[in-house]
Amino acid sequence: MAVLKASGLGKVFPGVVALDGVDLELRGGYVHALIGANGAGKSTLIKILTGYYPSYEGRIELNGQLISIHKPSDAFRYGIEVVHQEVDTTLIPYLSIAENLLIEKLATPAEGFFVRKRELHRQARQILQTLQLDMDVDQPVADLSLPQKQLLVIARAISRNASFLILDEPTASLGVSDVERLFTMIRKLKQRGVSFLYVSHRLTEIQEIADDITILRGGKKVAYFNRETFEMSKAIEAMLGAQPGKLFPTRMPITERELVLEVRNLGWGKRLKNISFQAFRGEVLGITGLTGAGKTELLNILAGCEKADHGDIILDGKVVHFRQPKDAIRHGIFLIPEDRRHRGLWIEHSIRTNVTLPFIRDFSYLSFVLPFKEISHVLQIINRLKLVPPNPEMTVKNLSGGNQQKVVIGKWLLQKGRVVLFDEATQGIDIGAKQEVYVLARELAHTSAVIFSSSDVDEVLGLADHVLVMRDGQIVGEFDTQPIDRQQVMELATGAVRTTTAYTTAQEE
Ligand SMILES: Nc1ncnc2c1ncn2[C@@H]1O[C@H](COP(=O)(O)OP(=O)(O)OP(=O)(O)O)[C@@H](O)[C@H]1O
Ligand SMILES: [Mg+2]
Repeated sequence: MAVLKASGLGKVFPGVVALDGVDLELRGGYVHALIGANGAGKSTLIKILTGYYPSYEGRIELNGQLISIHKPSDAFRYGIEVVHQEVDTTLIPYLSIAENLLIEKLATPAEGFFVRKRELHRQARQILQTLQLDMDVDQPVADLSLPQKQLLVIARAISRNASFLILDEPTASLGVSDVERLFTMIRKLKQRGVSFLYVSHRLTEIQEIADDITILRGGKKVAYFNRETFEMSKAIEAMLGAQPGKLFPTRMPITERELVLEVRNLGWGKRLKNISFQAFRGEVLGITGLTGAGKTELLNILAGCEKADHGDIILDGKVVHFRQPKDAIRHGIFLIPEDRRHRGLWIEHSIRTNVTLPFIRDFSYLSFVLPFKEISHVLQIINRLKLVPPNPEMTVKNLSGGNQQKVVIGKWLLQKGRVVLFDEATQGIDIGAKQEVYVLARELAHTSAVIFSSSDVDEVLGLADHVLVMRDGQIVGEFDTQPIDRQQVMELATGAVRTTTAYTTAQEE
Protein backbone atom coordinates (compact mmCIF):
# COMPACT_ATOMS: atom_id res chain seq x y z
CA MET A 1 0.00 0.00 0.00
CA ALA A 2 1.15 3.49 -0.82
CA VAL A 3 2.78 5.58 1.89
CA LEU A 4 3.29 9.32 1.65
CA LYS A 5 5.85 10.73 4.04
CA ALA A 6 6.56 14.41 4.55
CA SER A 7 9.45 15.62 6.69
CA GLY A 8 10.45 19.03 7.92
CA LEU A 9 7.73 20.91 6.07
CA GLY A 10 7.97 24.67 6.49
CA LYS A 11 6.40 27.79 4.98
CA VAL A 12 6.94 31.46 5.78
CA PHE A 13 4.78 34.41 4.74
CA PRO A 14 5.81 38.02 5.30
CA GLY A 15 5.73 38.34 9.07
CA VAL A 16 4.20 34.90 9.71
CA VAL A 17 5.79 31.47 10.10
CA ALA A 18 2.80 29.45 8.96
CA LEU A 19 4.48 26.04 9.16
CA ASP A 20 7.67 25.05 10.94
CA GLY A 21 9.44 21.68 10.53
CA VAL A 22 6.39 19.43 10.48
CA ASP A 23 6.58 15.65 9.87
CA LEU A 24 3.56 13.65 8.75
CA GLU A 25 2.93 10.19 7.34
CA LEU A 26 -0.10 9.00 5.38
CA ARG A 27 -0.52 5.22 5.24
CA GLY A 28 -2.71 3.45 2.71
CA GLY A 29 -6.06 2.49 4.20
CA TYR A 30 -5.83 4.83 7.20
CA VAL A 31 -7.35 8.15 8.19
CA HIS A 32 -4.84 10.66 9.53
CA ALA A 33 -6.49 13.60 11.26
CA LEU A 34 -4.80 16.97 11.41
CA ILE A 35 -6.11 19.26 14.11
CA GLY A 36 -5.22 22.62 15.59
CA ALA A 37 -6.62 26.04 16.40
CA ASN A 38 -7.47 28.54 13.65
CA GLY A 39 -4.29 29.67 11.97
CA ALA A 40 -2.25 26.69 13.25
CA GLY A 41 -1.07 25.84 9.72
CA LYS A 42 -3.38 23.00 8.66
CA SER A 43 -4.43 24.45 5.31
CA THR A 44 -0.87 25.56 4.63
CA LEU A 45 0.37 21.99 5.07
CA ILE A 46 -2.36 20.75 2.75
CA LYS A 47 -1.53 23.35 0.15
CA ILE A 48 2.11 22.19 0.15
CA LEU A 49 1.11 18.54 -0.35
CA THR A 50 -1.18 19.47 -3.22
CA GLY A 51 1.27 21.64 -5.14
CA TYR A 52 -0.36 24.98 -4.42
CA TYR A 53 2.96 26.55 -3.36
CA PRO A 54 5.93 26.41 -5.75
CA SER A 55 8.38 26.90 -2.89
CA TYR A 56 8.57 25.65 0.69
CA GLU A 57 10.96 23.82 3.00
CA GLY A 58 11.16 20.07 3.57
CA ARG A 59 10.95 16.83 1.60
CA ILE A 60 8.17 14.51 0.48
CA GLU A 61 8.58 10.77 -0.21
CA LEU A 62 6.22 8.34 -1.88
CA ASN A 63 6.94 4.71 -0.94
CA GLY A 64 10.47 5.67 0.08
CA GLN A 65 11.24 7.62 -3.12
CA LEU A 66 11.81 11.35 -3.00
CA ILE A 67 9.18 13.11 -5.11
CA SER A 68 8.86 16.69 -6.24
CA ILE A 69 5.56 18.53 -5.71
CA HIS A 70 5.65 22.15 -6.82
CA LYS A 71 2.49 22.54 -8.88
CA PRO A 72 -1.02 21.03 -8.74
CA SER A 73 -0.37 18.69 -11.69
CA ASP A 74 2.54 17.11 -9.74
CA ALA A 75 0.25 16.21 -6.85
CA PHE A 76 -2.40 14.94 -9.24
CA ARG A 77 0.15 12.65 -10.92
CA TYR A 78 0.99 11.02 -7.57
CA GLY A 79 -2.68 10.43 -6.82
CA ILE A 80 -3.06 13.23 -4.29
CA GLU A 81 -6.47 14.94 -4.43
CA VAL A 82 -7.87 17.64 -2.22
CA VAL A 83 -11.26 18.95 -1.26
CA HIS A 84 -10.62 22.52 -0.11
CA GLN A 85 -12.17 24.47 2.73
CA GLU A 86 -13.73 26.85 0.19
CA VAL A 87 -15.39 24.24 -1.97
CA ASP A 88 -17.14 26.68 -4.32
CA THR A 89 -13.88 27.75 -5.87
CA THR A 90 -13.42 24.40 -7.60
CA LEU A 91 -16.92 24.10 -9.08
CA ILE A 92 -18.29 25.86 -12.14
CA PRO A 93 -21.74 27.11 -11.14
CA TYR A 94 -23.43 27.29 -14.55
CA LEU A 95 -22.39 23.77 -15.54
CA SER A 96 -24.44 20.73 -14.53
CA ILE A 97 -23.53 18.19 -11.87
CA ALA A 98 -22.52 15.73 -14.59
CA GLU A 99 -20.30 18.28 -16.31
CA ASN A 100 -18.62 19.25 -13.06
CA LEU A 101 -18.06 15.63 -12.08
CA LEU A 102 -16.40 14.80 -15.40
CA ILE A 103 -14.86 18.16 -16.14
CA GLU A 104 -11.71 16.78 -17.80
CA LYS A 105 -13.81 14.86 -20.29
CA LEU A 106 -15.42 18.10 -21.44
CA ALA A 107 -12.04 19.32 -22.55
CA THR A 108 -11.41 16.32 -24.79
CA PRO A 109 -14.59 15.78 -26.83
CA ALA A 110 -14.33 12.52 -28.72
CA GLU A 111 -17.88 12.13 -29.99
CA GLY A 112 -20.71 14.39 -31.12
CA PHE A 113 -22.40 16.66 -28.61
CA PHE A 114 -25.50 14.55 -27.93
CA VAL A 115 -23.68 11.23 -27.69
CA ARG A 116 -21.27 12.91 -25.38
CA LYS A 117 -24.02 14.32 -23.22
CA ARG A 118 -25.76 10.96 -22.89
CA GLU A 119 -22.49 9.22 -22.08
CA LEU A 120 -21.55 11.95 -19.63
CA HIS A 121 -24.84 11.56 -17.80
CA ARG A 122 -24.48 7.79 -17.69
CA GLN A 123 -21.02 7.99 -16.17
CA ALA A 124 -22.02 10.70 -13.73
CA ARG A 125 -25.02 8.70 -12.55
CA GLN A 126 -22.75 5.72 -12.02
CA ILE A 127 -20.34 7.71 -9.85
CA LEU A 128 -23.15 9.13 -7.76
CA GLN A 129 -24.74 5.69 -7.43
CA THR A 130 -21.62 3.97 -6.14
CA LEU A 131 -21.39 6.66 -3.50
CA GLN A 132 -25.11 6.48 -2.79
CA LEU A 133 -25.68 10.12 -3.55
CA ASP A 134 -29.14 11.01 -4.69
CA MET A 135 -28.70 13.96 -7.09
CA ASP A 136 -30.05 14.90 -10.50
CA VAL A 137 -27.04 14.92 -12.84
CA ASP A 138 -28.63 17.54 -15.11
CA GLN A 139 -29.07 20.13 -12.37
CA PRO A 140 -26.81 23.22 -12.52
CA VAL A 141 -24.34 23.32 -9.64
CA ALA A 142 -25.44 26.87 -8.82
CA ASP A 143 -28.71 25.45 -7.47
CA LEU A 144 -27.04 23.13 -4.98
CA SER A 145 -26.80 23.79 -1.27
CA LEU A 146 -23.38 24.06 0.36
CA PRO A 147 -23.44 20.49 1.77
CA GLN A 148 -24.50 19.13 -1.61
CA LYS A 149 -21.59 20.92 -3.26
CA GLN A 150 -19.25 19.50 -0.65
CA LEU A 151 -20.42 15.93 -1.29
CA LEU A 152 -20.13 16.52 -5.03
CA VAL A 153 -16.51 17.66 -4.82
CA ILE A 154 -15.67 14.65 -2.67
CA ALA A 155 -17.41 12.35 -5.15
CA ARG A 156 -15.41 13.89 -7.98
CA ALA A 157 -12.08 13.39 -6.22
CA ILE A 158 -12.96 9.79 -5.44
CA SER A 159 -14.04 9.06 -9.00
CA ARG A 160 -10.57 10.02 -10.23
CA ASN A 161 -9.10 7.10 -8.26
CA ALA A 162 -7.05 9.18 -5.87
CA SER A 163 -4.84 7.20 -3.45
CA PHE A 164 -4.45 10.10 -1.06
CA LEU A 165 -7.54 12.08 -0.40
CA ILE A 166 -7.16 15.29 1.57
CA LEU A 167 -10.28 16.74 3.14
CA ASP A 168 -10.01 20.25 4.61
CA GLU A 169 -12.96 20.60 6.96
CA PRO A 170 -15.30 18.48 4.85
CA THR A 171 -18.04 18.46 7.46
CA ALA A 172 -18.02 22.17 8.42
CA SER A 173 -21.36 22.72 6.71
CA LEU A 174 -22.76 19.20 6.91
CA GLY A 175 -25.57 18.09 9.21
CA VAL A 176 -25.55 14.78 11.08
CA SER A 177 -27.07 12.65 8.32
CA ASP A 178 -24.65 14.01 5.69
CA VAL A 179 -21.72 13.37 8.01
CA GLU A 180 -22.82 9.78 8.44
CA ARG A 181 -22.99 9.40 4.68
CA LEU A 182 -19.50 10.83 4.29
CA PHE A 183 -18.12 8.48 6.96
CA THR A 184 -19.67 5.46 5.26
CA MET A 185 -17.99 6.61 2.07
CA ILE A 186 -14.63 7.01 3.85
CA ARG A 187 -14.82 3.57 5.49
CA LYS A 188 -15.58 1.91 2.16
CA LEU A 189 -12.65 3.67 0.48
CA LYS A 190 -10.27 2.78 3.33
CA GLN A 191 -10.87 -0.85 2.53
CA ARG A 192 -9.79 -0.16 -1.03
CA GLY A 193 -6.49 1.21 0.32
CA VAL A 194 -7.21 4.92 -0.04
CA SER A 195 -5.62 7.02 2.68
CA PHE A 196 -7.09 10.21 4.07
CA LEU A 197 -5.76 13.37 5.58
CA TYR A 198 -8.68 14.77 7.49
CA VAL A 199 -8.93 18.27 8.94
CA SER A 200 -11.80 19.13 11.25
CA HIS A 201 -12.65 21.24 14.28
CA ARG A 202 -15.27 18.72 15.38
CA LEU A 203 -13.31 16.60 17.81
CA THR A 204 -16.00 14.00 18.38
CA GLU A 205 -15.81 13.23 14.67
CA ILE A 206 -12.04 12.81 14.92
CA GLN A 207 -12.56 10.31 17.69
CA GLU A 208 -14.94 8.36 15.49
CA ILE A 209 -13.06 8.30 12.19
CA ALA A 210 -9.31 8.86 12.76
CA ASP A 211 -6.56 6.24 13.09
CA ASP A 212 -3.69 8.72 13.49
CA ILE A 213 -3.99 12.22 14.94
CA THR A 214 -1.40 14.98 14.53
CA ILE A 215 -1.82 18.26 16.38
CA LEU A 216 -0.41 21.58 15.20
CA ARG A 217 -0.01 24.74 17.23
CA GLY A 218 1.52 27.94 15.83
CA GLY A 219 2.83 26.05 12.78
CA LYS A 220 4.59 23.35 14.82
CA LYS A 221 3.69 19.74 15.44
CA VAL A 222 3.02 19.62 19.18
CA ALA A 223 1.49 16.16 19.66
CA TYR A 224 0.71 12.86 17.98
CA PHE A 225 -1.83 10.24 19.03
CA ASN A 226 -3.13 7.03 17.56
CA ARG A 227 -6.60 5.60 18.02
CA GLU A 228 -5.64 3.91 21.32
CA THR A 229 -3.73 6.78 22.88
CA PHE A 230 -6.11 9.58 21.85
CA GLU A 231 -7.64 11.50 24.73
CA MET A 232 -9.96 14.39 24.09
CA SER A 233 -8.80 16.59 26.97
CA LYS A 234 -5.10 16.05 26.16
CA ALA A 235 -5.77 16.86 22.52
CA ILE A 236 -7.56 20.09 23.38
CA GLU A 237 -4.78 21.10 25.74
CA ALA A 238 -2.17 20.48 23.05
CA MET A 239 -4.20 22.52 20.55
CA LEU A 240 -4.76 25.52 22.78
CA GLY A 241 -1.61 25.28 24.86
CA ALA A 242 -3.71 25.49 28.02
CA GLN A 243 -6.38 23.60 29.95
CA PRO A 244 -9.71 24.51 28.44
CA GLY A 245 -12.37 26.00 30.65
CA LYS A 246 -16.05 25.15 30.56
CA LEU A 247 -17.38 25.04 26.99
CA PHE A 248 -20.73 26.67 27.71
CA PRO A 249 -21.30 29.69 29.95
CA THR A 250 -23.65 29.35 32.89
CA ARG A 251 -27.23 30.18 32.09
CA MET A 252 -28.25 33.37 33.83
CA PRO A 253 -31.32 33.38 35.99
CA ILE A 254 -34.09 34.94 33.95
CA THR A 255 -35.17 37.85 36.06
CA GLU A 256 -36.60 40.26 33.57
CA ARG A 257 -37.64 38.80 30.26
CA GLU A 258 -38.78 41.37 27.78
CA LEU A 259 -40.69 40.42 24.64
CA VAL A 260 -38.77 41.93 21.72
CA LEU A 261 -39.65 40.00 18.61
CA GLU A 262 -42.76 38.10 17.71
CA VAL A 263 -43.25 36.14 14.51
CA ARG A 264 -46.78 35.21 13.55
CA ASN A 265 -47.72 32.64 10.98
CA LEU A 266 -44.84 33.35 8.62
CA GLY A 267 -44.87 31.51 5.31
CA TRP A 268 -42.62 31.47 2.25
CA GLY A 269 -43.58 29.15 -0.60
CA LYS A 270 -42.67 25.61 0.24
CA ARG A 271 -39.67 26.67 2.26
CA LEU A 272 -41.38 27.96 5.39
CA LYS A 273 -44.81 27.14 6.72
CA ASN A 274 -46.74 28.57 9.68
CA ILE A 275 -43.76 29.81 11.62
CA SER A 276 -44.77 31.42 14.91
CA PHE A 277 -42.61 32.11 17.95
CA GLN A 278 -41.47 34.80 20.38
CA ALA A 279 -37.98 35.96 21.22
CA PHE A 280 -37.15 37.71 24.47
CA ARG A 281 -34.36 39.92 25.71
CA GLY A 282 -32.83 38.08 28.64
CA GLU A 283 -32.62 34.69 27.00
CA VAL A 284 -30.99 32.84 24.13
CA LEU A 285 -33.46 31.26 21.75
CA GLY A 286 -31.88 28.26 20.02
CA ILE A 287 -33.05 26.90 16.70
CA THR A 288 -31.83 23.54 15.52
CA GLY A 289 -32.66 21.05 12.78
CA LEU A 290 -30.86 19.35 9.91
CA THR A 291 -29.31 21.41 7.13
CA GLY A 292 -32.11 22.35 4.75
CA ALA A 293 -34.76 22.45 7.49
CA GLY A 294 -35.41 26.15 6.82
CA LYS A 295 -33.36 27.80 9.57
CA THR A 296 -31.30 29.97 7.24
CA GLU A 297 -34.41 30.97 5.26
CA LEU A 298 -36.14 32.06 8.46
CA LEU A 299 -33.18 34.12 9.64
CA ASN A 300 -32.79 35.69 6.21
CA ILE A 301 -36.40 36.88 6.29
CA LEU A 302 -35.96 38.34 9.78
CA ALA A 303 -32.86 40.18 8.55
CA GLY A 304 -34.57 41.62 5.48
CA CYS A 305 -32.59 39.56 2.99
CA GLU A 306 -35.67 37.70 1.76
CA LYS A 307 -39.38 38.44 1.79
CA ALA A 308 -42.07 36.19 3.24
CA ASP A 309 -45.30 35.54 1.33
CA HIS A 310 -47.42 36.12 4.38
CA GLY A 311 -47.28 36.49 8.14
CA ASP A 312 -46.16 39.24 10.50
CA ILE A 313 -42.90 40.25 12.07
CA ILE A 314 -43.60 42.30 15.17
CA LEU A 315 -40.74 44.22 16.72
CA ASP A 316 -41.33 45.93 20.06
CA GLY A 317 -45.06 45.68 19.53
CA LYS A 318 -45.09 47.12 16.01
CA VAL A 319 -45.47 45.26 12.73
CA VAL A 320 -42.38 45.89 10.60
CA HIS A 321 -41.73 45.43 6.89
CA PHE A 322 -38.22 45.09 5.56
CA ARG A 323 -37.51 45.59 1.88
CA GLN A 324 -33.78 45.13 2.23
CA PRO A 325 -31.18 44.27 4.87
CA LYS A 326 -30.57 47.98 5.49
CA ASP A 327 -34.12 48.32 6.82
CA ALA A 328 -33.59 45.52 9.30
CA ILE A 329 -30.25 46.93 10.42
CA ARG A 330 -31.89 50.33 10.98
CA HIS A 331 -34.35 48.58 13.32
CA GLY A 332 -31.42 46.97 15.16
CA ILE A 333 -31.73 43.49 13.70
CA PHE A 334 -28.27 42.08 12.96
CA LEU A 335 -27.46 38.85 11.16
CA ILE A 336 -24.26 36.85 11.35
CA PRO A 337 -24.74 34.99 8.08
CA GLU A 338 -23.93 31.42 7.22
CA ASP A 339 -22.29 32.01 3.85
CA ARG A 340 -19.46 34.12 5.19
CA ARG A 341 -17.18 34.51 2.21
CA HIS A 342 -19.88 35.94 0.01
CA ARG A 343 -22.05 37.86 2.38
CA GLY A 344 -20.03 38.70 5.41
CA LEU A 345 -16.66 39.93 4.22
CA TRP A 346 -14.72 42.34 2.04
CA ILE A 347 -12.02 39.86 1.30
CA GLU A 348 -9.51 42.33 -0.18
CA HIS A 349 -9.69 44.69 2.81
CA SER A 350 -8.13 44.72 6.27
CA ILE A 351 -9.58 43.31 9.48
CA ARG A 352 -10.05 46.89 10.68
CA THR A 353 -12.09 47.97 7.67
CA ASN A 354 -14.21 44.84 7.84
CA VAL A 355 -15.21 45.25 11.46
CA THR A 356 -15.66 49.02 11.59
CA LEU A 357 -16.91 50.20 8.22
CA PRO A 358 -20.57 49.29 8.73
CA PHE A 359 -20.56 51.37 11.91
CA ILE A 360 -18.08 54.04 10.96
CA ARG A 361 -20.39 56.75 12.28
CA ASP A 362 -19.89 55.37 15.78
CA PHE A 363 -16.20 56.13 15.46
CA SER A 364 -16.58 59.56 13.95
CA TYR A 365 -17.10 63.07 15.17
CA LEU A 366 -18.29 65.64 12.60
CA SER A 367 -17.32 63.30 9.76
CA PHE A 368 -13.79 62.80 11.09
CA VAL A 369 -12.94 59.22 12.00
CA LEU A 370 -11.45 59.04 15.48
CA PRO A 371 -8.53 56.67 15.01
CA PHE A 372 -8.07 55.91 18.69
CA LYS A 373 -11.67 54.92 19.21
CA GLU A 374 -11.68 52.86 16.07
CA ILE A 375 -8.46 51.00 16.79
CA SER A 376 -9.40 50.20 20.39
CA HIS A 377 -12.66 48.73 19.15
CA VAL A 378 -10.83 46.55 16.63
CA LEU A 379 -8.25 45.42 19.17
CA GLN A 380 -10.98 44.43 21.58
CA ILE A 381 -12.48 42.13 18.95
CA ILE A 382 -9.08 40.71 18.02
CA ASN A 383 -8.30 39.92 21.65
CA ARG A 384 -11.61 38.39 22.57
CA LEU A 385 -11.81 36.16 19.50
CA LYS A 386 -8.06 35.48 19.58
CA LEU A 387 -7.60 36.42 15.95
CA VAL A 388 -4.35 35.15 14.38
CA PRO A 389 -2.34 37.18 13.51
CA PRO A 390 -3.52 39.94 15.89
CA ASN A 391 -2.84 42.66 13.34
CA PRO A 392 -5.71 45.05 12.45
CA GLU A 393 -4.16 45.87 9.08
CA MET A 394 -3.93 42.23 7.90
CA THR A 395 -5.80 41.64 4.63
CA VAL A 396 -8.71 39.31 5.29
CA LYS A 397 -7.89 37.26 2.19
CA ASN A 398 -4.65 36.11 3.85
CA LEU A 399 -6.31 34.95 7.05
CA SER A 400 -6.99 31.28 7.70
CA GLY A 401 -10.59 30.10 7.12
CA GLY A 402 -11.52 30.15 10.79
CA ASN A 403 -10.03 33.57 11.38
CA GLN A 404 -12.10 34.95 8.51
CA GLN A 405 -15.19 33.61 10.25
CA LYS A 406 -14.09 35.35 13.44
CA VAL A 407 -13.97 38.66 11.55
CA VAL A 408 -17.59 38.27 10.43
CA ILE A 409 -18.71 37.45 13.94
CA GLY A 410 -16.59 40.20 15.44
CA LYS A 411 -18.20 42.79 13.20
CA TRP A 412 -21.54 42.35 14.96
CA LEU A 413 -20.59 41.20 18.40
CA LEU A 414 -19.81 44.51 19.95
CA GLN A 415 -22.92 46.14 18.53
CA LYS A 416 -25.93 46.44 20.74
CA GLY A 417 -28.81 45.41 18.55
CA ARG A 418 -32.43 44.73 19.49
CA VAL A 419 -32.19 41.29 17.89
CA VAL A 420 -28.99 39.44 17.02
CA LEU A 421 -29.27 36.43 14.73
CA PHE A 422 -26.51 33.81 14.64
CA ASP A 423 -26.63 31.47 11.65
CA GLU A 424 -24.17 28.55 12.01
CA ALA A 425 -21.82 31.06 13.60
CA THR A 426 -19.26 28.59 14.93
CA GLN A 427 -18.78 26.73 11.68
CA GLY A 428 -15.06 26.25 11.10
CA ILE A 429 -13.84 28.03 14.24
CA ASP A 430 -11.73 26.31 16.86
CA ILE A 431 -12.90 25.29 20.29
CA GLY A 432 -11.30 28.26 22.05
CA ALA A 433 -13.10 30.73 19.79
CA LYS A 434 -16.34 28.76 20.12
CA GLN A 435 -16.21 29.22 23.88
CA GLU A 436 -15.77 32.94 23.38
CA VAL A 437 -18.68 33.16 20.91
CA TYR A 438 -20.95 31.41 23.41
CA VAL A 439 -19.91 33.82 26.14
CA LEU A 440 -20.54 36.78 23.84
CA ALA A 441 -23.95 35.43 22.80
CA ARG A 442 -24.85 35.17 26.49
CA GLU A 443 -23.63 38.69 27.15
CA LEU A 444 -25.63 40.02 24.21
CA ALA A 445 -28.75 38.43 25.66
CA HIS A 446 -28.63 41.04 28.44
CA THR A 447 -29.33 43.80 25.94
CA SER A 448 -30.85 42.04 22.90
CA ALA A 449 -33.01 39.11 21.94
CA VAL A 450 -30.51 36.51 20.74
CA ILE A 451 -31.50 33.85 18.25
CA PHE A 452 -28.85 31.18 17.85
CA SER A 453 -29.41 28.81 14.96
CA SER A 454 -27.20 25.79 14.35
CA SER A 455 -27.41 22.28 12.96
CA ASP A 456 -25.08 21.23 15.79
CA VAL A 457 -27.67 20.01 18.27
CA ASP A 458 -25.22 19.83 21.17
CA GLU A 459 -24.19 23.43 20.87
CA VAL A 460 -27.80 24.61 20.79
CA LEU A 461 -28.71 22.49 23.81
CA GLY A 462 -25.61 23.62 25.68
CA LEU A 463 -26.19 27.31 25.10
CA ALA A 464 -29.88 28.10 24.67
CA ASP A 465 -32.60 28.61 27.27
CA HIS A 466 -35.41 27.89 24.91
CA VAL A 467 -35.14 25.62 21.84
CA LEU A 468 -37.13 25.36 18.63
CA VAL A 469 -36.67 22.32 16.38
CA MET A 470 -37.29 22.76 12.65
CA ARG A 471 -37.89 20.24 9.91
CA ASP A 472 -39.10 20.73 6.32
CA GLY A 473 -39.74 24.43 6.84
CA GLN A 474 -41.80 24.03 9.97
CA ILE A 475 -41.36 24.23 13.69
CA VAL A 476 -41.91 20.67 14.87
CA GLY A 477 -40.88 20.97 18.49
CA GLU A 478 -40.45 23.52 21.25
CA PHE A 479 -38.63 23.01 24.56
CA ASP A 480 -38.20 25.39 27.45
CA THR A 481 -37.47 23.41 30.57
CA GLN A 482 -33.88 22.35 31.26
CA PRO A 483 -32.47 19.82 30.76
CA ILE A 484 -33.74 19.13 27.27
CA ASP A 485 -33.85 15.52 26.08
CA ARG A 486 -31.27 15.26 23.28
CA GLN A 487 -32.70 12.05 21.90
CA GLN A 488 -36.12 13.63 21.55
CA VAL A 489 -34.69 16.65 19.75
CA MET A 490 -32.80 14.40 17.32
CA GLU A 491 -35.89 12.36 16.60
CA LEU A 492 -37.90 15.47 15.85
CA ALA A 493 -35.15 16.94 13.67
CA THR A 494 -34.75 13.81 11.59
CA GLY A 495 -38.45 13.04 11.43
CA ALA A 496 -38.31 9.79 13.39
CA VAL A 497 -41.14 11.21 15.50
CA ARG A 498 -43.76 13.51 14.05
CA THR A 499 -44.44 16.01 16.88
CA THR A 500 -43.81 16.66 20.54
CA THR A 501 -46.45 16.64 23.19
CA ALA A 502 -45.18 20.04 24.27
CA TYR A 503 -46.28 21.53 21.00
CA THR A 504 -49.66 21.58 19.32
CA THR A 505 -49.94 19.73 16.03
CA ALA A 506 -51.58 22.62 14.23
CA GLN A 507 -48.43 23.07 12.16
CA GLU A 508 -48.63 19.62 10.62
CA GLU A 509 -50.33 19.33 7.31
N1 LIG B 1 -1.03 34.23 1.65
C1 LIG B 1 -0.78 34.46 2.94
N2 LIG B 1 -0.16 35.59 3.34
C2 LIG B 1 0.11 35.81 4.63
N3 LIG B 1 -0.20 34.96 5.63
C3 LIG B 1 -0.83 33.82 5.30
C4 LIG B 1 -1.16 33.51 3.94
N4 LIG B 1 -1.77 32.31 3.93
C5 LIG B 1 -1.83 31.89 5.22
N5 LIG B 1 -1.26 32.80 6.05
C6 LIG B 1 -1.12 32.68 7.51
O1 LIG B 1 -0.59 31.43 7.83
C7 LIG B 1 -1.11 30.96 9.07
C8 LIG B 1 -1.64 29.56 8.90
O2 LIG B 1 -2.83 29.57 8.12
P1 LIG B 1 -3.65 28.27 7.73
O3 LIG B 1 -4.63 28.68 6.72
O4 LIG B 1 -2.71 27.18 7.38
O5 LIG B 1 -4.38 27.91 9.12
P2 LIG B 1 -5.40 26.72 9.44
O6 LIG B 1 -4.74 25.84 10.45
O7 LIG B 1 -5.86 26.09 8.19
O8 LIG B 1 -6.60 27.49 10.19
P3 LIG B 1 -8.22 27.34 10.08
O9 LIG B 1 -8.59 26.33 11.10
O10 LIG B 1 -8.70 28.68 10.51
O11 LIG B 1 -8.58 27.00 8.69
C9 LIG B 1 -2.16 31.98 9.48
O12 LIG B 1 -1.59 32.82 10.45
C10 LIG B 1 -2.45 32.75 8.22
O13 LIG B 1 -2.87 34.05 8.50
MG1 LIG C 1 -7.74 26.07 7.16
